[in-house]
Amino acid sequence: MPDMTELIRVAQLSDTHFLAPGDTFEGGFGYDTSAAFEAVLADVESGEALDLVAVTGDVADHGRAEQYRVAAAAFSRLPAPVNVCPGNHDQHAVFGAGMGRPSIGTSRVLELGDWCFLFVDSNAGVLRVDETGLTHDPEDYEERLHRNGALGAREAARVRSMHDTSSAEHVFIWLHHPPDPQAPLSHDADYAEEWRAVMPDLPKVRGFGGGHTHVPDEHTFEGVPVFVAPAFKNNFDLEAATLLPPGYRRYEFEPEGTVRSETHLVGEDTWPRHPLGRSVMSLLRGEISYAEFDEIVARRNAAS
Ligand SMILES: [Fe+2]
Repeated sequence: MPDMTELIRVAQLSDTHFLAPGDTFEGGFGYDTSAAFEAVLADVESGEALDLVAVTGDVADHGRAEQYRVAAAAFSRLPAPVNVCPGNHDQHAVFGAGMGRPSIGTSRVLELGDWCFLFVDSNAGVLRVDETGLTHDPEDYEERLHRNGALGAREAARVRSMHDTSSAEHVFIWLHHPPDPQAPLSHDADYAEEWRAVMPDLPKVRGFGGGHTHVPDEHTFEGVPVFVAPAFKNNFDLEAATLLPPGYRRYEFEPEGTVRSETHLVGEDTWPRHPLGRSVMSLLRGEISYAEFDEIVARRNAAS
């Protein structure tokens, strides 16, 4: 455990979208995420020692048990304790069961030095509650698959409670869906408004670390930085209209409450920055829906 006067170093992996042998990607396209993990692991190991690895959801591409087994075997090799929160691709029960390992946790709160890290589930409203009070995924996986974020009253109350109860001076929020992302496809005004409403109650929050967009980025929300991590599955540069290699983020947390973060992209030769087609760019810019994009692809495949 770090000394109170020391920097805390964290790596953030997000949208790892692990597959089991023989699986194909949801959406039909992605990098070899196990190869991406190897390249990220090599980069992680070449850097300074870490206090924690935060994983911010979309751990498994279809949220299946076998995919979590691949993910857990990979995460167990990381040179620091790992803590994970779920994304829209994950499935509730198998995520919980599949991520639990002696060195991998799904804690909602971790204190390190003078920092309190909150791990937020930004998938509010997805789960059903049975007669015992146990929560389950909906019957139809599609209901959670393409969702943007939702905080919900219960999770907002949990965040307020943990923020107020922690004796740490500084709070940082890890979650799958970043508030107010710049990537148009993932932008959701209602979700941003949920966070905007709760932020006045959270004066110790110094920033957010999220994923989901597959567009590595950094922006400011209500006066604090929001860092968006690259994915392992596929990444996009919306300005250059190209793919980007996979990667992760590194963070340094100062005892006085500042956060620095940088993106590390890995394997430029293996995953070159190919130009993106017009229909992919239209999807990413939010000009067409997933359904419209799928229709265009189906028409093109039928014509060829
Ligand atoms: Fe993702």
